[in-house]
Amino acid sequence: MPKNTKVYISELENSVEKQVTLSGWLYRGRSSGKVLFLVIRDGTGLCQCIVEKGKIADELFDQLKHLGQESSLAITGTVRAEERSVGGFELAVSDAQIISPATDYPITPKSHGVDFLLKNRHLHLRSQRQWCIGKIRHTVIDAIRRFFNDNEFTLVDTPIITAMVGEDESSLFKIDYFGNPVNLTQTGQLHLESAAMSYGKVYCFGPTFRAEKSKTRRHLTEFWMVEPEVAFIELDGLLELAENFVSFIAAETLAKNKTQLETLGADIAALEKIKPPFNRLTYTEVVEILTSQRTVDFLAEQLEAFQKQKGQLETQIGDLEKQQAGQLKQWKKDKIAAELMELHTCLSEINTKIQNNPKHAKLAAEFRWGKDLGGSDETIISQMHDKPVFITHYPKAAKAFYMKTDRANEKVVLNFDMLAPAGFGEIIGGSVREDDHDQLVKKINEKDLNAENYSWYLDLRKYGSVPHGGFGLGVERTVAWLTGEKHIRQCIAFPRMMDKIYI
Ligand code: 4AD
Repeated sequence: MPKNTKVYISELENSVEKQVTLSGWLYRGRSSGKVLFLVIRDGTGLCQCIVEKGKIADELFDQLKHLGQESSLAITGTVRAEERSVGGFELAVSDAQIISPATDYPITPKSHGVDFLLKNRHLHLRSQRQWCIGKIRHTVIDAIRRFFNDNEFTLVDTPIITAMVGEDESSLFKIDYFGNPVNLTQTGQLHLESAAMSYGKVYCFGPTFRAEKSKTRRHLTEFWMVEPEVAFIELDGLLELAENFVSFIAAETLAKNKTQLETLGADIAALEKIKPPFNRLTYTEVVEILTSQRTVDFLAEQLEAFQKQKGQLETQIGDLEKQQAGQLKQWKKDKIAAELMELHTCLSEINTKIQNNPKHAKLAAEFRWGKDLGGSDETIISQMHDKPVFITHYPKAAKAFYMKTDRANEKVVLNFDMLAPAGFGEIIGGSVREDDHDQLVKKINEKDLNAENYSWYLDLRKYGSVPHGGFGLGVERTVAWLTGEKHIRQCIAFPRMMDKIYI
């Protein structure tokens, strides 16, 4: 083996007691006089490198001592197993080459505000938190493809530019297509239905666009959606497919990213419960729950818990502020300032929850059959469960034109949403499709859609129509749920929102 083998940090376990070279960036460094502790990141992990004065040239020791955060370097040394060290290994350094020194990197270990971090997303992607989320997103996407590929689904790439209204006219991104107004796709579903009549089981997976005028934690204007579509399937079959699919994604994430989930503080025990069967409720049952004493009591208990948490946070903040007023070293001051920033963020979140609690209670109590479920209604139902919940059979008027009317009850459609548990909310929407030509024409007219644009879609009901259906799963929402991330904007590298498009 050559003397200086280049390795990645993730491979260090194969090189214990050997001399290797790591190439990466300085994540953080500290010095205790004669020893430098440099934590290097190389994209695969973190490794602490120990530089002892006298073991390398004095000039190099000095350069490393003053090296700025995020400087790039190659560093050579002997690998030692060290349980207490980040990643479980250390490097006893014998040489280093500074590739490009960095000074005044703007994102320091102190806490920064959300806006600052979003403006600096091109750099923030290097942070441990964003890195862990990105790794989990990668696993989720890999699991999605693997699940469908291993279950005989054929991938069909549906168009991004389309003349159709897939879901809802009010959230279309209109573009000019050589003088004609067309839209960015809101769903690949309609085209996918045509492909399902050729291949039987298909899926599409791509960017999806919705001009959402809401700034909630659950909405992006550009997000990634995977959509399976199956010929000869009914609602029960779709629910089974969806619960197997989501359980597979959760299991793959647990198997491949436990360390990252731990770093993010995700609820691993809760994820271990994600196995079929999931809970099943009809919309009508949900309305009964929302307007019942059960919800009143549930929200009252929650309010009490929030108030208790608020009290605890205020005590913690008070204690830290007292400490801050004393004589402290700079690093301790920075640490307290970062902790205080975090605690204030938590306090403001709890205050919002306390303010919203009575509003949500009122909305739930006044909920009437026929309305679509709002975000707060979904949150209540999902908080009541520790496994995902399917809500099926929504009122026809509240849902998209393509959903099949339940022939046993014409007021509802054969659709479902899947809510992730513990308050996270909807991650999947799907349905059986209307397969009767005349019923579909009626619905297109009722929703005031331009029937001409749908003539090809109607053909599918003329030539060998079959019961079929599918669903869409939002990648960012799924990643946010698995990682425990509050806002889905953290779950895509370069988020697009109504009021934010920095890079
Ligand atoms: O419920 P939706 O609107 O369903 C459809 O688009 C169907 N055509 C899918 C199908 O049946 N083939 O959206 C599906 C999922 C949601 O459950 C959510 O996870 C995600 O897409 N989603 C969004 N994610 C982020 N930002 C948004 N603005 C989203 N809108 C929907």
